[in-house]
Amino acid sequence: MSEPKKLFIKTYGCQMNVYDSERMAEALGGQGYVETKSPDDADMILLNTCHIREKAAEKVYSELGRFKGLKADKPDLKIGVAGCVAQAEGEEIMRRQPLVDLVVGPQSYHRLPEMEAKTREGEKALDTDFPEEDKFEKLKNRPKAKRGPTAFLTVQEGCDKFCAFCVVPYTRGAEVSRPADRIIREAQDLVERGVREITLLGQNVNAYHGAGPNGDMTLAGLIWELNKVDGLERIRFTTSHPNDMDDALIEAHGTCDKLMPYLHLPVQSGSDKILKRMNRSHTAESYLRLIERIRDARPDILMSGDFIVGFPEETDEDFQATLDLVEEVKYGYAYSFKYSTRPGTPAAERPQVDAEVADERLQRLQAMITRHQREIQDSMVGQTVSVLFEKPGRQTGQMVGKSEYLHAVHVSDADVLSGDLHRVRIKSSGANSLGGELV
Ligand code: 5AD
Ligand code: SF4
Repeated sequence: MSEPKKLFIKTYGCQMNVYDSERMAEALGGQGYVETKSPDDADMILLNTCHIREKAAEKVYSELGRFKGLKADKPDLKIGVAGCVAQAEGEEIMRRQPLVDLVVGPQSYHRLPEMEAKTREGEKALDTDFPEEDKFEKLKNRPKAKRGPTAFLTVQEGCDKFCAFCVVPYTRGAEVSRPADRIIREAQDLVERGVREITLLGQNVNAYHGAGPNGDMTLAGLIWELNKVDGLERIRFTTSHPNDMDDALIEAHGTCDKLMPYLHLPVQSGSDKILKRMNRSHTAESYLRLIERIRDARPDILMSGDFIVGFPEETDEDFQATLDLVEEVKYGYAYSFKYSTRPGTPAAERPQVDAEVADERLQRLQAMITRHQREIQDSMVGQTVSVLFEKPGRQTGQMVGKSEYLHAVHVSDADVLSGDLHRVRIKSSGANSLGGELV
């Protein structure tokens, strides 16, 4: 038997890229590839890229430059770029970095096997189409090998919202939802392989409207169907848009036992003027009222969010409105970014905020978010949570898992295995995790 070829995939950006990387590795598995953890012994290197902020693309180019030596030593080494930078830049990547053999967009990676074969003929392969066919249908069934207790599952891709700062509608295309029966089958397959928690993914996951047995199904409908899957214990979903939080989904947070009390619901800014210029079609007030309704349905829900500071024409007052909103919501987790100009998006044309001002705002916002995160994490001490254990901790005898609120929790010298769900009484709160004992 010939030696398997080795594939090294490096994944940047969001969780959907993590999922896509798994599927790309599986697709290339059919071509005789197995994954390797190091680029040094790889026969193919694939960078699965992110285009959301400027630096992300620059990082890709500098990473590619570092493979020059490897390619000189091993001329058969193939180098590919996948993901959103591939979609946005296309052929330009090969022009700027001639050592790249293959460029594949997020909607065409089911064609990777043929593309790889083409590169083995010494040709370059480029595919950034938005094909008619459903990539998930063209991909082979997922392998049956055992895997860890948590998994991502893409249910929806693309976005029709066109926020003024965002490249996603251009790189991932229009909103498309996968049919419910395929998702349920994939979830059942994952459960058979040892998965107990599934995070449903979509750029606008709560706009999900996939074909179901009686017409289109909403995300709440899909969650209720997944709730019936034996052996699946936990369901999460991300990322949501405030305008797509319908009543049934809010209610499910109170009534669906497998749906975890955690919600990532980005608002981006607390200023109505900025929200309008961002084309967000909601106000700070409507967002706050929405959170009130969600908390009425599930009082202990942990909220998470995304913020952009230094959006064009953001004044000190606008920024203060963001701080006020954050103070009111108190996020358990929140991610904040300095506005990054994306060519081709409407905001790129607007007067930019001074970089130093934006830096200073980012620091202030992050300090506030960190304080809240820590307060919420500390408030878990004395509570009993449920933990899905995933892997050994850093110290011997330690096991680490996640609570329903996504806090990392470790226990010591307890008889637990990866995939076990246990009740844990929280005893301590450290920098990045909680410590506890089984009850
Ligand atoms: N600049 C900075 N942050 C951005 N995001 C999206 N586009 C930009 C941009 N141009 C942030 C948003 C989004 C998260 C995934 O990335 O906060 O919710
Ligand atoms: Fe980008 Fe806005 Fe769509 Fe989110 S909702 S992917 S921020 S355009």
